Amino acid sequence: MIRSRIAGTGRAVPAQIMTNADLSKMVDTSDAWIVERTGIRQRHILEPSRAASDLAADAGRAACARAGVDPSTVDCIIVGTVTGDCPFPATATFVQKKLGAAPNGCAFDLSAACAGFLYGVSIADAFIRTGQFKRVLVVGVEVLSRIIDWTDRATCVLFGDAAGAVLMTASDGPSGLLSTHLFADGAQAEILWQPVGGSREPLTPEAVAAKRHFVQMNGREVYKHAVRNMAAGARIALDANGLTPDDVTWVIAHQANIRILEGVSERVNIPMERFFTNVDRYGNTSSASVPTALDEAVEQGKFKPGDILLFAALGGGLAWASGVARW
Ligand code: UT7
Repeated sequence: MIRSRIAGTGRAVPAQIMTNADLSKMVDTSDAWIVERTGIRQRHILEPSRAASDLAADAGRAACARAGVDPSTVDCIIVGTVTGDCPFPATATFVQKKLGAAPNGCAFDLSAACAGFLYGVSIADAFIRTGQFKRVLVVGVEVLSRIIDWTDRATCVLFGDAAGAVLMTASDGPSGLLSTHLFADGAQAEILWQPVGGSREPLTPEAVAAKRHFVQMNGREVYKHAVRNMAAGARIALDANGLTPDDVTWVIAHQANIRILEGVSERVNIPMERFFTNVDRYGNTSSASVPTALDEAVEQGKFKPGDILLFAALGGGLAWASGVARW
């Protein structure tokens, strides 16, 4: 059976760091509150002259280099993002040009918020298994700093900017993606969203005055769904492969809040020592969080051949996803 595998990982992180102390000068918050409620200590903010496609191309280039693949041979680029360069065309097309990827290949974006990267991996896996594309670059990129209300302490302390990428190819050995599982619940679409800027509520001076072009979130509701659904998705992924929690070497889950990860850890019965975490240094980078964590883990030499990696993410939609890979 043909499988896909992650042949290389990469990330791109803006140089500018905003600490909790910086934020406490902007809104009524404190380092103690943010660390206790979220585990976040700092986040990166993209400089105004750069856009999502710049970060995505940098991460993509790094993933291609680590895979030993020339970007000109990449025949499909999938970008998961809710903060693309512009409403259309797809940010992936700008990435294709910046990378010098195969001009006759395809490039498209997908919108699944924080689950966008794992949705992209699932689609890439299907493309590779059917033989439709051979070298697929999957990128999760967000410039959330551009859609955050920096006067709203309930949201502005949570998010950050970053990009992470994987270059996926067909596997020629035992390593590879074992399964992916995608879920959504549109009944919860309005507990985490950006209401204005599309056909439903176009961007108008009134909408801007009402701040409806910024992220709106019912934090407590999202929190409950995140713990419940990421844990349920993780269990489905393990069951689908006949695996138990003990078989899992590392969990690479969406880095939204350390308490959410602790809740998932408890529910799936996998200790926190086996969760890779970097939320303290990045905050919630939505679709970039899983590939950024994956790339850091690779760079730190955390994985050895045969390790079982469990993935899980949830975000606006609500959309969530899980998956298992053998490294
Ligand atoms: O990728 C998915 C995207 N979203 C998420 O993952 C977010 C999920 N939700 C969460 O992570 C948490 O719900 C939050 C971190 C957003 C909030 O934590 P919480 O423990 O649920 O706090 P809360 O909303 O219940 O607020 C507790 C108190 C409130 O004050 P009162 O009403 O008790 O007086 C808030 O007004 O904390 C206050 N508060 C703050 N205080 C200082 C809210 N934000 C802040 C803040 N600094 N930044």
